Amino acid sequence: MKILVTGGAGFIGGNFVYYLLNRYPGDKVVCVDKLTYAGNLETLESALQDPRFTFYKADITDRRDVEEIFSKEKPDAAVNFAAESHVDRSIGNPSVFLKTNIFGTQVLLDACRRHGTARFHQVSTDEVYGDLPLDRPDLFFTEETPLHTSSPYSASKASADLLVLAYFRTYGTPVTISRCSNNYGPYHFPEKLIPLMITSALEGRPLPVYGTGANVRDWLYVEDHCAAIDLILRGGRLGEVYNVGGHNERTNLQVVQAIVDLLGKGEIVFVKDRAGHDLRYAIDPSKIERELGWTPTVRFEDGLRRTVDWYLTHRAWWEHILSGSYRRYYHKMYGGKIS
Ligand code: NAD
Ligand code: TYD
Repeated sequence: MKILVTGGAGFIGGNFVYYLLNRYPGDKVVCVDKLTYAGNLETLESALQDPRFTFYKADITDRRDVEEIFSKEKPDAAVNFAAESHVDRSIGNPSVFLKTNIFGTQVLLDACRRHGTARFHQVSTDEVYGDLPLDRPDLFFTEETPLHTSSPYSASKASADLLVLAYFRTYGTPVTISRCSNNYGPYHFPEKLIPLMITSALEGRPLPVYGTGANVRDWLYVEDHCAAIDLILRGGRLGEVYNVGGHNERTNLQVVQAIVDLLGKGEIVFVKDRAGHDLRYAIDPSKIERELGWTPTVRFEDGLRRTVDWYLTHRAWWEHILSGSYRRYYHKMYGGKIS
């Protein structure tokens, strides 16, 4: 199978590229990535040595480029990871989120239609469901939970999901959608909670926890997410949504404290809360477990230890990021709050 992966120079897309190359010796992988601030070719260094891997630096909102790539490569399937993915950035500048996440998805759907691509998988998020209250641990997001978004990021992802389902109903485009909880693991850009806290502690910077740190996220090791997407791509029912999550709920403060404990250092500081901050995410994954036999394999404590070890042994990867545009971004976001 030849699989086109958009956003493969990012965190989850990069892990998915390696998942495919390691697991399916006969598969070819074509990566399309614009290399925004979040895309890093160093993540794909080994893949770029593999003859089964091809990389295109291209914007998914550019119809001409996307058309050219589909004409040349004729992929059997496309998996769309490409997105603007950081809630905080979406609060600062929503426009690019709408352009990439909604319009870019439409460009890809059109290309799949025109070329008769056998599968289009949209990588979505549990954030499309909004949030759950902190005092109702019995509630979980199911695939039937109404879409109820809070941030420009989640609104753009929900819009894309609706478009994907509309293409299925209207044109019969063979689509599937996964909505996953928060991922963590190797190659995670160090502006998201877990890698930010690890790299900050290692560099002696404070660890900025929003509000009181009571917000809850449901964490999944990135490889378990890759396995879920792979199962859906090969066996999921067309037109269906699958929730993905491993019942690993933690408050942000618990996560940050666990990182401090693993590293033996790190000064936690409480900073101004995020606007519209979602309280709790929690996924009910029973549909994908029942239909496709997916189960998470990595316990949070083990995954976090592995992740901390990865950042300790891959300093060059994240130091290159910190020395560049990320550093300017860091000052803009946190300079006034903790310096
Ligand atoms: P990321 O920000 O690390 O990577 C995004 C990648 O997309 C980058 O390589 C970037 O260069 C590329 N990109 C951005 N705009 C592009 C464009 N216009 N054209 C081509 N490439 C473009 O994101 P991530 O955390 O790996 O998330 C990947 C996907 O998974 C996103 O769609 C996100 O919504 C979804 N998701 C993420 C999480 C999570 O916890 N990180 C959880 C659930 C779902
Ligand atoms: P994040 O990694 O941005 O993912 P998301 O907002 O998509 O869930 O944030 C995870 C949680 O951590 C979220 O509740 C916000 C919180 N957070 C902090 O407390 N401090 C930070 O510096 C960041 C980036 C996030």
